[in-house]
Amino acid sequence: MREHPLDIYEEQAGDISRVLITEAEIQSRVREIGQAISRDYAGRRPVLVGVLKGVLFFMADLLCAITIAPEVDFIAVSSYSQDSRDRGFVRLVKDLEMPIEGRHVLFVEDIIDTGLTLNYLLRTLRARGPASLEVCVLFTKNRHRLIDIPSRYQGFELPDRFVVGYGLDHRESYRNLPFVGELKPHAFQANSESGNMPHKNGGSK
Ligand code: IMP
Repeated sequence: MREHPLDIYEEQAGDISRVLITEAEIQSRVREIGQAISRDYAGRRPVLVGVLKGVLFFMADLLCAITIAPEVDFIAVSSYSQDSRDRGFVRLVKDLEMPIEGRHVLFVEDIIDTGLTLNYLLRTLRARGPASLEVCVLFTKNRHRLIDIPSRYQGFELPDRFVVGYGLDHRESYRNLPFVGELKPHAFQANSESGNMPHKNGGSK
């Protein structure tokens, strides 16, 4: 596979201090996960559910790596607020289009940090009576985990750093980078009016 070097991403490249996971590493792991899902769900038609927008890249590559015939649907949420009393509260701004009662649901997520967002969403989906509900997550950070979420498929463990790329954003930038990189402090602060963790300021994922 031909890698896209960091420097072709012009102004975005200057904001990345280092590449943590290369494009080739991501693509190879996603293919392995796709093969495992194809084996485990053989003879069934699972519904892959993703949360917009961060999961778009992972979902697209994963679907191409899956050799059975899954269905796909998306939800969208607004992130929880900075107020610690509200943490874990996620507002659904777009619901699934298909009913999932009696279906085998595989929840596909880009990143788990504290686990609060996913925990809320899994509770919501479980209440709809799926035949099974499993989790497939590409990136995990374990340092700030508040809720243990067993995931059947996992990609990479990340250090406790704010990362961007492959769908992960900082204020809607950097999603298009095909690798995962650490954001330089100046870029992190320049875009954050408050200086707080940007993804925990509300707004969409
Ligand atoms: P949670 O803390 O597990 O509830 O994660 C909340 C959300 O924060 C994730 O679904 C991501 O959208 C976002 N997030 C967490 N860590 C990062 C990061 O390093 N970069 C970009 N987004 C992140």
